[in-house]
Amino acid sequence: MRRLMIAGNWKMNKTVAEGVDLVRKLSYATNNITSLDILVCPTFTALKSVSEAIKGTNIKLGAQNMFWEESGAYTGEISPLMIKDVGCEYVIIGHSERREYFGETEETVNKKLKSALSYSLKPILCIGEKLAERESGATERVLETQIVGALDGFSAVEMEQIIIAYEPIWAIGTGKTATPEIADSTQKFIRDKIASIFNSQLANKIRILYGGSVKPENAKDLLSCENIDGALVGGASLDADKFAKIIEAGL
Ligand code: PGA
Repeated sequence: MRRLMIAGNWKMNKTVAEGVDLVRKLSYATNNITSLDILVCPTFTALKSVSEAIKGTNIKLGAQNMFWEESGAYTGEISPLMIKDVGCEYVIIGHSERREYFGETEETVNKKLKSALSYSLKPILCIGEKLAERESGATERVLETQIVGALDGFSAVEMEQIIIAYEPIWAIGTGKTATPEIADSTQKFIRDKIASIFNSQLANKIRILYGGSVKPENAKDLLSCENIDGALVGGASLDADKFAKIIEAGL
C-alpha cells in the first residue's frame, strides 16, 4: 500500500505573513491526520518562517525549485544546501511552468534531481503533456522522453527517493481536470515505464501524484484511483479550507 501525499504548490503567491497564517489554519484543520503526508511548498522568501510555524505539526516543507550547485557566482539562484538549511525535506523539480517560462530542459531537470538526492532532499519530478500533444496522440511519447531524460543515470536505490507528479499541462490552472480514467491510465503508463527502466517491485513502490485543477469537488474520485498516490495542488492549496478538504478526501 502506497502512502498518499497531498502537496500544495503555492507558486508565486503569499507574503511571509500570509503564508504563516495559511499553515496555522491548515495545521488547525488537519492536526489529527497522520495517515497521509501533507506537504506545503511556499515561495523561497516564506520558507524559513513557514518552517518555524509548522514545527511540531504533521505538515512537511518543500521548495518549488533549486539550482544544482551548492554555492558560487549564480546570481538569483538558490542552492540545495540553502533550502535544506531552512528545513525543506522535499523539492519540486521540473514543473511545467519552469520548463515553459524559464528554459528548463530534460538535462537541467536531470542535474537538479541528482543534486537534490545528493543533499538527501526528496524530489517531486513533474512531467506532463500539452493539449496539442494529447490531441495528436503523442502523450506517451512525450512522457517517455521526459521520464528517460530526467532519470538518465539513476540507480533503482536513487529512484526510490523520487516522487513523480503527472501534471497534464492542459489541466493546470485551467479548471479542466483530467478525468479519473485518463489520469489513472496515464499514470499506469508511467508506472509501467518505471518498471521497464528499473523493476516492477520498485515501480509498485513509487508514488505518482496527479496535478492539474485538483479541487475539493474532484479530489475523492481522483484519489481513489489505483495509480494515483496523491495530488499536487496549485490554486486550491492557497486556501486552508479547500486544501484541508482535499486532504480529507484522501483519508
Ligand atoms: P492547479 O496547479 O492546481 O492550479 O491547476 C497545479 C500545479 O501546477 O502544480
